[in-house]
Amino acid sequence: MTIQFSLAQDLPETSSAPCVVVGVFDDRTLTSAAARIDEKSGGAIKRLLESGDVGGKTGATSLLFALPGVAAPRVLLVGLGEPKKFDAARFARACGEAARVLKGLPLDRAASFLTEVDVPGKDTAWKLRTAALATDAQAYKYTATFKPKEKSAKSEFGGLALAGASDAAALAQAAAIANGVRFARELGNLPPNICNPEYIADAAQKLAKEHSGVTCEVLEEADMRKLGMGALIGVAQGSVFPPKLIVLRWNGAGEKDRPYAFVGKGITFDTGGISIKPSAGMEEMKFDMCGAAGVLGAFLAAVELKLKLNLVCVVPAVENMPGGRAQRPSDVVTTMSGQTVEVLNTDAEGRLILCDALTFVQKYNPQIIIDAATLTGACVVALGKHATGLMTQDDTLANELIAAGENTLDRAWRLPLWDDYQSQLETGYADIANIGGKYAGAITAGCFLARFTEGFRWAHLDIAGTAWEEGRKGSATGRPVSLLVQYLLDRATG
Ligand code: BES
Ligand code: MN
Ligand code: ZN
Repeated sequence: MTIQFSLAQDLPETSSAPCVVVGVFDDRTLTSAAARIDEKSGGAIKRLLESGDVGGKTGATSLLFALPGVAAPRVLLVGLGEPKKFDAARFARACGEAARVLKGLPLDRAASFLTEVDVPGKDTAWKLRTAALATDAQAYKYTATFKPKEKSAKSEFGGLALAGASDAAALAQAAAIANGVRFARELGNLPPNICNPEYIADAAQKLAKEHSGVTCEVLEEADMRKLGMGALIGVAQGSVFPPKLIVLRWNGAGEKDRPYAFVGKGITFDTGGISIKPSAGMEEMKFDMCGAAGVLGAFLAAVELKLKLNLVCVVPAVENMPGGRAQRPSDVVTTMSGQTVEVLNTDAEGRLILCDALTFVQKYNPQIIIDAATLTGACVVALGKHATGLMTQDDTLANELIAAGENTLDRAWRLPLWDDYQSQLETGYADIANIGGKYAGAITAGCFLARFTEGFRWAHLDIAGTAWEEGRKGSATGRPVSLLVQYLLDRATG
């Protein structure tokens, strides 16, 4: 369940919440809320800081109990680090760390005064939204495939009051984005025997049913064959699960308004196909549908916000398996665009399903096309796990997406899509090869997609590094939902 957010009405010392959250810097400067608590409690916070028992490192937390003169039984002190270095990212981190502690306490709500702290260059609406999203991200817990637990008597953290000027719009935005992020994380985390192409199609249909103004259409393999989607079908043919091409539409603006288009890679499991992957770490390839999850989550948030724009969301949902019917390295397929592709590596399957989806979406005459895909390991090598790879030939679109990423801390970094790289995709057997050799793998994948988006303003987000956290307990992050929703919010009128 998403956390419910409200605006804190009381002062920190009189708050009726079971816990109030206040910040301290590492030079022992108190935020105004911490100073009030300190004063009312006869200097309890200052004494703790002076003793050295409590510090102010970014994200460090200390729980104080039953302070005299303070109504709330608990005060959670959160470190904000060096005052001079305090910035947007540290603010978000402090909010997240606070939530991590809160969710472990036997309480159902809290009041945070962190949003009163000045964050350079950010207004109250930003602080409210960022605090809410950081809190909700911490509160999310994957439970879908565990034996159902009996409801425990322990109260569960579910409500946070935030201090700040009344700004219901900021909280509504946060709630919608939080829902979109949760939707994406949950879909991403589900195992591939449950979350198969049909499951994603059903989830999209359900989303359409639950939200008025949304339509959903699911194309079957026969429809794709009629459209000539040879590349998509080539990937799908190794799996017993038939592919689905999902189309969701939201018309929040006039009928004649050209839509924004999202396309998301929905490989529900990527074995590599005949060019099979090594088994170590292969389980992480259940996350290979996180592009699909991300665009669906962003779509959901846009609909909940009733954005005054038109949006179409296309998801090719396919499983990449080896088998007697699977495609082979050296197969040549004909794409919906008419261009032929030599499949030199069946593990470079994302671009094969995306190229047909990108051609297909053009029938809606979109003003902008943005795809999100866990496309290349090379992108993770280039940018690590912090930045999404952004590729586009459109400088304006690039800057708008970078700005949306900065704003939401769901950041993207641009890689070039110069024509120089295109020659790496040449082959003697088809118009284009599906791999570009050992150098610049993220860029050559982008260059491949560029051949299918000519004449359109298009950007590609490679989220291979950012869509999930690594390791056995790795979990979907919900990126790039915030970036995409912010991009739309910045474009929507009224
Ligand atoms: N889904 C993978 C990319 C990937 C790999 C994402 C590791 C996150 C972590 C994609 O389908 C793939 O296998 N790409 C290949 C392309 C290569 C064959 C040109 C890769 O990155 O190795
Ligand atoms: Mn692959
Ligand atoms: Zn893949």
